[in-house]
Formats: sequence, C-alpha cells, structure tokens
Amino acid sequence: MYKPKSESWFSPVMGLVAIFPVFTFALGTWQLKRLKWKIDLIDELTEKLQLDPLPLPRQINITAIPDFAWRKVKAVGQWDHAHTMLLGPKVFEGENGYQVITPLKRQDGSTVLVDRGFINKEYGDNNTFDKPEGDIEVVGLIRLSQPRNAFTPDNDPKEKFWYWRDIDAMAEHAGGTEANVQPVFFEEIFDAHTGHIMARLDKGIPVGRPASVNLRNSHLSYVITWWGLSAISTIMLWRFVKKNAIRGRSLPR
Ligand SMILES: *[C@@H]1O[C@H](CO)[C@@H](O)[C@H](O)[C@H]1NC(C)=O
Ligand SMILES: *[C@@H]1O[C@H](CO)[C@@H](O)[C@H](O)[C@H]1NC(C)=O
Repeated sequence: MYKPKSESWFSPVMGLVAIFPVFTFALGTWQLKRLKWKIDLIDELTEKLQLDPLPLPRQINITAIPDFAWRKVKAVGQWDHAHTMLLGPKVFEGENGYQVITPLKRQDGSTVLVDRGFINKEYGDNNTFDKPEGDIEVVGLIRLSQPRNAFTPDNDPKEKFWYWRDIDAMAEHAGGTEANVQPVFFEEIFDAHTGHIMARLDKGIPVGRPASVNLRNSHLSYVITWWGLSAISTIMLWRFVKKNAIRGRSLPR
C-alpha cells in the first residue's frame, strides 16, 4: 500500500522532538535535587568539622569508619618512614609533587596511615623531604578510599608508584594485619597563611590540608544546562507545530 513519504518519518521524529523538552526538564529537576542533597551534605560535614578532634581508639572498628568520614581525629605515635608512600602526580600552588603517606605507629594501639601533605617533586624524587623522629601528635581528617576512574593507572607498590588512594593496599604495604596496621587513613591538617606554606615547600616539609570540606559541586551548572536545553527545545517544538498547523490547513485544497 502506498504511503506518502512524509507520513512515515513524520511521527517518530515528531515523537522525539516532543519528548526532548520533557526529558531535559526532568534531568534538570533531578540535578536540582542533587544540588540540594550536595549542599545539605556540605553543611553537615562542615558542622562535623567544628567538633573537637576525637582520639583514635586502640583498635578501630573498621565497619564504623564510613560514618566518621571527614571527622577530625587525633593520634599519638612515631612515623614509620621506611614504609612511606608517595601518591602522585599532584599539583599544589602551581608546583608538581606528591602527597606523602606515612604509617603512624601508635605505642598503645594499631598503626594507621597518615597523609602528611604535599611535597615538591624534587624532594620526593631525591628522598630528602622532612622525616621527623620521636613521638608526635597528629590531627587530621578521616578519609575513605577514592573511587578510581577508567584513566587511573594501577598502583604498583613494588615500584613505589601510587596513583590513587587505595587504603587497603596501603595498609597491606605498611605491614598489614600481622604488623597490626589498620586500614584507617587520615589527612593531616595544616592551617596556615601562604608565607608559611611557601617556607615549608622550600624546605621539603609536607604541607597538610586546611580543615575545610572541599567537595565538588557542579550540580547548579547542570541544572542550568538541562533547563536551558528544555526551554530552547520547547520554543523549537512550538514553532515546528505552528508551521505544520498552518501547512496542514492549506493542504486539503
Ligand atoms: C562496629 O561498628 C558497627 C557499625 O557501626 C557496629 O554495628 C558494630 O557493632 C561495631 N562492632 C564492635 C565490635 O563494636
Ligand atoms: C633534593 O632536592 C631539593 C629540592 O630541589 C634540593 O634542595 C636538595 O639539595 C636535593 N638534595 C639532594 C641530596 O640532592
């Protein structure tokens, strides 16, 4: 049976064109929800940060650790420099370098992993960065393993190449359960002005992180993008319908 060509493509295309504004509007609305969720989360974590540092217990309940993400903690012990891991490449203040991750041996408890902060590449490569001895107290923020993306290379502990924060593998490298190392990781806090930071970088002393939440929040730009697309496609749809309505009226003649 003969069918006019225009009719066979008209409906599917029309269907798509009609769905597009609705679809993009829904995506925008979903991103708005995500935005609210992210803002609430950042608020919650910022509030958590105001709490006094929690002394780490002797043996830490690993299953409870996720509840303590971003919580300020403190621990006393000695650095195990022999098992230091350099995580990188990282960039800080325009300089290439590494994060220095050193196990902290607590005299009355398990060994935990501490990200002491950033050092310049040269200090990492020639292994001359600061390595203090003796008892110290460290204050930091509990962090969890990083999700790794498709482009992150495998960590290679044997060659001492660490590309992403795999806390279990790092604890294993530091001696594992045999050496009473627990897969607990925190980032040392170092709050100071820029001059002080620069002085540390020059001397190869690791520069810790500020005590603040730095989560990415790009949901607002997604909301704007999706709703913008929805508005534009609505206008296009409206013009398309109008044009065809006019053409439709003139067809019967
Ligand atoms: C460890 O933490 C989990 C989750 O918070 C809890 O259910 C469990 O009872 C804790 N275990 C011990 C031995 O305290
Ligand atoms: C290691 O690198 C730092 C920074 O470039 C430099 O100041 C230091 O002299 C170097 N040390 C050795 C032993 O090469």
